[in-house]
Amino acid sequence: MRKLIAGNWKMNGTLDETRRLLLAILGNLGDLTRQVDLLVIPPFTALQEASLLLRARGRTVRLGAQNVHFERKGAFTGEISVSMLLELGVTDVLIGHSERRIHFGETGALCLKKLQTALGDGLAPILCIGEQLAQRDQGQTESVLEAQLHETFLALREDSAARVTLAYEPVWAIGTGRNATPAQAEEAHRFIRSRISTRFGEDLAREARILYGGSVNALNAGELLSRPGVDGALVGGASLTAQDFLGIVRAAASASSA
Ligand code: PGA
Repeated sequence: MRKLIAGNWKMNGTLDETRRLLLAILGNLGDLTRQVDLLVIPPFTALQEASLLLRARGRTVRLGAQNVHFERKGAFTGEISVSMLLELGVTDVLIGHSERRIHFGETGALCLKKLQTALGDGLAPILCIGEQLAQRDQGQTESVLEAQLHETFLALREDSAARVTLAYEPVWAIGTGRNATPAQAEEAHRFIRSRISTRFGEDLAREARILYGGSVNALNAGELLSRPGVDGALVGGASLTAQDFLGIVRAAASASSA
């Protein structure tokens, strides 16, 4: 499977910063998109700028949004709908990032509604799941992942589930500089795939793309991405400079051809 490297810029990126970062990425990309799928996920306010730049370069890099509302339109002050994203050329959307679960109270039930609307209207979701440190320390990693999958991904119809990318993001590894070890990532991905297999069968489990996220950088990416079942990375901090992001993309290209 081709690896996907996705850069989640979070709440970073004025228009000027967006232009500079994207031009630096696109200008130094070479032919890496022949081997690796790339996605950038700027904040809402920079999507149009990013979309115009990416379109001018033939859309070799996909464009994602960090969030979306589950209703199609209406009285939802401050929210953004799927159609608003689609008209900007957005193809992918993050759902259930731990920062949204923790800081904005997003529940599994809410994530399921968002998944269903995004899928129904043609946006490709990346669903994030992952345990907190205390849960890992208490040996609850698998039960937490199981519960998060149960209320979201596993509740979808099979044809919908087949269009979702999953991201395993241990909360303790996000923004901390402490990435999961390659063995921990591999183990969690294997568990997630086993649950997909039980619910939807082996074919879907094999074809499901599962990204790892949490302090991925150009130095640790090679080892993480070489692990079986680690199909790419969701990158926060290290996606904010072209050099670091491209270092990860190069590591993904090497891991793919190894
Ligand atoms: P990080 O963020 O790479 O800065 O740890 C990852 C994420 O939040 O997706």
